[in-house]
Amino acid sequence: MGSLLNTNILLGVTGGIAAYKTPDLVRKLKAKGANVRVVLTQSAKEFVSPLSLQAVSGNSVSDDLLDPAAEAAMGHIELAKWADLLIIAPATANTIAKLAHGLADDLLTTLVLATTAPVHIAPAMNQQMWHATATQDNLAILGRRGVTIIAPDQGEQACGDVGPGRMPEPQDIADRLDELPAQGLLQGVKVVITAGPTREHIDPVRYMSNHSSGKMGYAVASAAQQMGASVVLVSGPVNLPPPSGVTVQKVTTAEEMLAAVMAETQDCDIFIGCAAVADYRPSQVVDQKIKKSNTELTLTFVKNPDILTSVAALPRPPFTVGFAAETQNVAQYAKDKLARKKLDLIAANDVSRQDIGFNSEQNALTLYWANGEKQLDKASKSQIAMQLMASITQQYHQKKQ
Ligand code: PMT
Repeated sequence: MGSLLNTNILLGVTGGIAAYKTPDLVRKLKAKGANVRVVLTQSAKEFVSPLSLQAVSGNSVSDDLLDPAAEAAMGHIELAKWADLLIIAPATANTIAKLAHGLADDLLTTLVLATTAPVHIAPAMNQQMWHATATQDNLAILGRRGVTIIAPDQGEQACGDVGPGRMPEPQDIADRLDELPAQGLLQGVKVVITAGPTREHIDPVRYMSNHSSGKMGYAVASAAQQMGASVVLVSGPVNLPPPSGVTVQKVTTAEEMLAAVMAETQDCDIFIGCAAVADYRPSQVVDQKIKKSNTELTLTFVKNPDILTSVAALPRPPFTVGFAAETQNVAQYAKDKLARKKLDLIAANDVSRQDIGFNSEQNALTLYWANGEKQLDKASKSQIAMQLMASITQQYHQKKQ
């Protein structure tokens, strides 16, 4: 039995052919020890009967935001608060679009806005609809907000097309949810995370920076928050909304990031350095804009402080996690950094790949610690963040024992 034991799961079912699999999904979730309540959209009722879902879940099924009788039994806000986890399976392209844009025109979409529980969606649709730019953009928006996307399976579809878009089998979905780090595992734990790039000023109009978007660090902050931690995110300049429930401190330069981190890590339990901190800064910031009078311009740089090393060197250091962004000899350089910076764990990121790493929606990492390693295969940054936090939490609790 994994993390679903005694978990309150709200299952949202939308109108796709895969809805016929949901009574089985309810059974599989209950077999893991979860309590399940089901919410159907109006079109879902064309594909699966509310009565069968009521029978297998053992609870009445809700389908209407404006039903006084249902509201009198368990109102939508109560239902949103009851849930420890919300899973929408199958999630149609239409519902995904509504969620991405914050619409709340039925019970299910209202519940998504009203709940603080982690939200997972298992999209299911025609392969062309799955590939559509609008769908992929909407999924990216949801991923950035911390929604976990359970990728569809490939194969023959009800319409005869072949490709991605089939809802994974109920057993696979239940197993995946059961492997999630249990809610509350980081209750009472303070986690400080850095994210994004730093900018190092050259003159009043120019700076030196890098391609970090902050997506990975923001996803890690969201995952830690979902596990019950109190999270401070020290963020370089990025274009992302603050993850819900996380305290964000905005900084620009490496020196500002160091100051914010050192103030926050005095009483912190876990520190995760995900930011792409500039290793060097111009040795002086020129007061006036540099004019292009010469054919060549020479700048000199000085080394920036190493934030991760400074945290690990504290008299009572937190459990300290670094990232290693490398383009070659990834494993060896990451292991070197683990030892040299006296870290508890390091996440090696192969940034020579165009499909992962800097500024992409997906990532893949290899984790190394003193006597172990773990491969996190390519997945959305929110999924990778969840898996990373699960490993960090396990190692953190082991070290504390
Ligand atoms: O932001 P995204 O677009 O989502 O991209 C994610 C990412 C690729 C930036 C992220 O996954 C990642 O790999 N972050 C580490 C980037 C980095 O600077 O790696 P590094 O190998 O140069 O540094 C090693 C470690 O030391 C890192 O934890 C870094 O935060 C830390 N460091 C580096 C220099 C410095 N002066 N101070 C530091 O704390």
